Amino acid sequence: MIHQNIQAAAEALNRGELIGLPTETVYGLAGNALNEFVVDKIYTLKNRPSSNPLILHTYSLEEVAKYTTHIPPTAFKLANTFWPGPLTLLLPKNNLITHKVTAGSHLVAVRIPNHPIALELLRSLDFPLVAPSANPYTRISPTSAQMVEDYFGNALPHILDGGNCSKGIESTIVGFDEDTPIIYRQGAISVDAIEFIAGKTKVLATVKEKVTTPGMAPMHYAPRTRFLIVEDIKNYIHENPHLSIGVLSMCNTFKTGPNVFVVLLTSRLDLEEASKNLYQSMHYLDGLNLDCIIIERFPEIGIGKSLNDRITRASLVQ
Ligand code: TXA
Ligand code: MG
Repeated sequence: MIHQNIQAAAEALNRGELIGLPTETVYGLAGNALNEFVVDKIYTLKNRPSSNPLILHTYSLEEVAKYTTHIPPTAFKLANTFWPGPLTLLLPKNNLITHKVTAGSHLVAVRIPNHPIALELLRSLDFPLVAPSANPYTRISPTSAQMVEDYFGNALPHILDGGNCSKGIESTIVGFDEDTPIIYRQGAISVDAIEFIAGKTKVLATVKEKVTTPGMAPMHYAPRTRFLIVEDIKNYIHENPHLSIGVLSMCNTFKTGPNVFVVLLTSRLDLEEASKNLYQSMHYLDGLNLDCIIIERFPEIGIGKSLNDRITRASLVQ
């Protein structure tokens, strides 16, 4: 059920239950990170392979220090710049974090979300939360409480309503080789912004390189409807008059037909706004039972690169 009662959600977490957690990136499926039974429940409910590790969520750097052995200087700089915010750091874990959370790795992924409800909830608990995105494995991450309910219905008695996620795509994941930053997942913070603070990075998780970082399998973030990246939306519609087509557009300067359903991702060519709207728009069009959903590539600048990563993965599924 969707509600705003933080205390009721905290009580459910204390009893070992899972909840839907709003963050600024996407909604999480959250539970007590220190309880292995709870961690198992998350993998089961998401239908996610246990080889794909979970992100630890907490509310302060002091808390992060409780679960890690050390924080490299560059990580510290990034944390100070971007936390609370859509940055996930891979740090060496200590014994409080089980291998169930990290899928056997000695590194734990940690993040301090920038959402008032998430922060208030985290501060009220005696344990950190693990929270993967609140979608069944391989489906689109939810960016509203309603999307979480659409996915899990009664299986989640507590879905905290924090409104529409302000970022709309997942956090950027950064690990370290010695002190050199490695981008494991492009996300809501652009690679340029990371590099501005931390110097030159190596981007591991590009679709082209087919790197199989856990969780970065190409089959990710996918609507059920055929999803196509096209060169030119106008031409595609013109050449396929017999198809019912969902269009995710950055501008609506083309003529549509009766079988064409257009969602404008942004009215101002604003990539942040497009990011905020992308997953919900995909989810909406996915519910219309169309022949296909089409989109043009985003400009390869700033978070446009992260958005292109996601739509490429979505288009690879078919
Ligand atoms: O924005 C986000 O990060 C959201 C919100 C809810 O915080 N969470 C999220 O979690 O996207 P999830 O589980 O859907 O994606 C986490 C990614 C996965 O690709 C996983 O493989 C990677 O993080 N990951 C987690 N722990 C890791 C580790 N120890 N080493 C390498 N990758 C890790
Ligand atoms: Mg996910």
